[in-house]
Amino acid sequence: MVRGDLLCPGEECMAQILDGKAVARKVLADVKAGVAAVKDRSGATPTLAVVLVGDFPSSKIYIANKKKAAAEVGIASRDFLYAEGLSQPELLGLLRQLNADPAIHGILLQLPLPSGCDEGEAIAAIAPEKDVDGFHPMNLGLLLAGTPTVVPCTPAGVMEILDHYGVELKGAEAVVVGRSRIVGKPLAQLLLARHATVTMCHTRTRDLAAHTLRAELLCVAAGRPQVITGAMVREGAVVVDVGINRLESGRLVGDVEFESAAKRARAITPVPGGVGPMTVAMLMKNTLQAARRQLGL
Ligand code: GUN
Repeated sequence: MVRGDLLCPGEECMAQILDGKAVARKVLADVKAGVAAVKDRSGATPTLAVVLVGDFPSSKIYIANKKKAAAEVGIASRDFLYAEGLSQPELLGLLRQLNADPAIHGILLQLPLPSGCDEGEAIAAIAPEKDVDGFHPMNLGLLLAGTPTVVPCTPAGVMEILDHYGVELKGAEAVVVGRSRIVGKPLAQLLLARHATVTMCHTRTRDLAAHTLRAELLCVAAGRPQVITGAMVREGAVVVDVGINRLESGRLVGDVEFESAAKRARAITPVPGGVGPMTVAMLMKNTLQAARRQLGL
């Protein structure tokens, strides 16, 4: 199912590491070349508006990573940061202004929004062609319709990793844990489109392990640290861990207990260094595509 040799340090046969950092580097190199070509042909610089409302320490880190990647590939970013908050009408007004600005090609509205802001209404206020996160109902609808245009970055990154490592999806028994709009739901659609047999599990699933133990491909975006243990992983499965959680000890862990899962999996993404870097890389790819479309290239 997976190309390449398995690493077997010590007694236990450990799984192959699916290196998201390396795949992200490759995507970013392609985007960088694409951005240079856009600049050559149109004279315009692909530009991303970065909108952050509220004082969320983790959002600030995510945004810093995204801006750093943008600078590396030649995408300009413009900041609209409101640590003190913004009323819903003010936020909608800002988004309308960015929609109308031809020098802005993509709008990143970092989530979550503070309580009091209506996330769904704000996302729907972004022009679909500038929605580089792919969260707008129209873009999610196009994905469901089988004509994806802008695909949410994290699930798109998961697919990129699976394809890079040659994971066979046709007919595969795939289980997705988590049903968020950002990851679980779009990821299930992408896997379905590639002819996997997809089961979705969530907080109300009665016997989670009964499902995960059937999975040849197990994708976990539950938002709960180490909720999937090795005993819940099928022998020889490919495991993709979308979670990133900081324990009280300060240690970063995924939604999968890596050490025990790696003993049973054939291949697994690490945390950090797995899906995380792919989200940022795919955002850059989506921004380049949005700029190309708006510039008629
Ligand atoms: N918050 C957590 N993940 C994401 C993401 O991929 N995009 C945005 N805009 N906000 C997020």
